[in-house]
Amino acid sequence: MHDGDDITTIEGIGMPESLSALQQAFKDNDAFQCGYCTPGQICSATALIDEIKQNWPSHVTTDLQNPDGLLVQEIAERMSGNICRCSAYPNIIKAISQVLENEMNDSSKTDAVQKSEVTGIWSPPPSEAQLGSQSMKNKTATSRLGDRS
Ligand code: FES
Repeated sequence: MHDGDDITTIEGIGMPESLSALQQAFKDNDAFQCGYCTPGQICSATALIDEIKQNWPSHVTTDLQNPDGLLVQEIAERMSGNICRCSAYPNIIKAISQVLENEMNDSSKTDAVQKSEVTGIWSPPPSEAQLGSQSMKNKTATSRLGDRS
């Protein structure tokens, strides 16, 4: 499926003696997770920054001319494939925001980054246990729909 594609691992982004700006920002902002998640977060965040710099819209982009206008939501959406329960997410968002701020050359985008505030705690979606009875009702309804086909 990806025969011939280029693959960049964390070692291709930077090494301990030559950290990328994003790796340095993760270090500066204490944005670490475990040894599996941190490299994945940095690889995803590197791609995220490239996407934003190329004006690629995400699922939550409301303005194609300003795809990073809602920076925290953009980062959360674009990083949503990296899931763990350990939650260093606020510091990860700070690290990514810091690098975006430094890398964006267009002044309007830089303004949007600077106006965004990284506050609060971003949490992953609730689990089925947290959803409780509502989740069970939805499953029952889904099962009934499935019975009809
Ligand atoms: S930090 Fe890796 S599983 Fe949570």
